[in-house]
Amino acid sequence: MFLNEYIKNKKVILGVSSGIAIYKAVDLSSKLRKLEVDLNIVLTEDSKKMISPVVFSAVGNCPVYTDYFNEVKDGWIPHTQLSMESDALVIAPATANIIAKIANGFADDLLSLIALAFRKKSKILVPTMNTRMYESPALQRNLEILKNDGWIIVEPEVGHLACGEIGKGRYPENEMILEFLEYSLAKKDMKNKKVLITAGPTVEPIDPVRNITNKSSGKMGYELARAFSYRGAEVTLISGPTNIKPPYILKNLINVTTAIEMKNEVMKHYKEADIIIMSAAVSDYKIKNYSDKKIKKENENITLELERNPDILKELGKLKKKIKY
Ligand SMILES: Cc1cc2nc3c(=O)[nH]c(=O)nc-3n(C[C@H](O)[C@H](O)[C@H](O)COP(=O)(O)O)c2cc1C
Repeated sequence: MFLNEYIKNKKVILGVSSGIAIYKAVDLSSKLRKLEVDLNIVLTEDSKKMISPVVFSAVGNCPVYTDYFNEVKDGWIPHTQLSMESDALVIAPATANIIAKIANGFADDLLSLIALAFRKKSKILVPTMNTRMYESPALQRNLEILKNDGWIIVEPEVGHLACGEIGKGRYPENEMILEFLEYSLAKKDMKNKKVLITAGPTVEPIDPVRNITNKSSGKMGYELARAFSYRGAEVTLISGPTNIKPPYILKNLINVTTAIEMKNEVMKHYKEADIIIMSAAVSDYKIKNYSDKKIKKENENITLELERNPDILKELGKLKKKIKY
């Protein structure tokens, strides 16, 4: 799920270099198009040996540039104009070669020229390559330089690589790249704020294989966590069991099961928080006599006795600081 407001109508350059994961950048260009981005794609010369610019142009429904000499028309110079007019620059996949060039200020093709001239804060690199290349001192040194220069590096995944080896270097989910793009474009008006959010249901065990719970999905709390994180807040999300993928940019996720566990975590963290949002559906009751063995199917009827769970909100309310407005 995305907060499209940060990304819609933004002018974005998608830079594509010749990593084997290039086919995934076609899907990225399609997703950017669907998010109504004003897209320009810049391909390196070598990337055109892997996928035709026609594919990117058709799927991204946008202009595609490579040549920084032949594209100069009527005073329009692609590298200075595109780098000046655009809100964000995303390079995915980023080869070891383009990373080395950008980190060291080389400017011998359109993409490296644009990267050198780009001044906005939203600049993202997605390094993908063979593990041994990724772990090489030179590549790591270059990534460090780029981080210090303000680039957001979206870490590659660990897994099976095209070369047959297993390790770090795989192209990550495009959703992750888009999330970092949205994050980078959002106004950071909640910087230095600490936000504590609870989400999801709690699950109260009856015996080792059964439990009672409720139908809370957790969506509300997770989306709040995303929205606050985008705006620069340091978010701690305390979550009951859900099926939701947490936002990639979320710093602190604490998983709990029962209301008591949720209460304990809230009490551990509430003091540091400037803002607390309790969006979890905490079970009001728990089983009074938990059975540590599976209850056997012996009787026609059984009675489960419930007792009140702590009221986290009420307890927090008592501790609430007086705020002067
Ligand atoms: C089949 C093939 C796959 C490649 N995959 C990668 C890769 O995943 N990552 C990488 O950094 N380089 C990869 N390379 C090497 C780059 O294509 C090469 O370094 C190229 O000069 C980079 O140019 P560019 O950065 O201008 O696109 C691959 C090369 C070939 C032939």
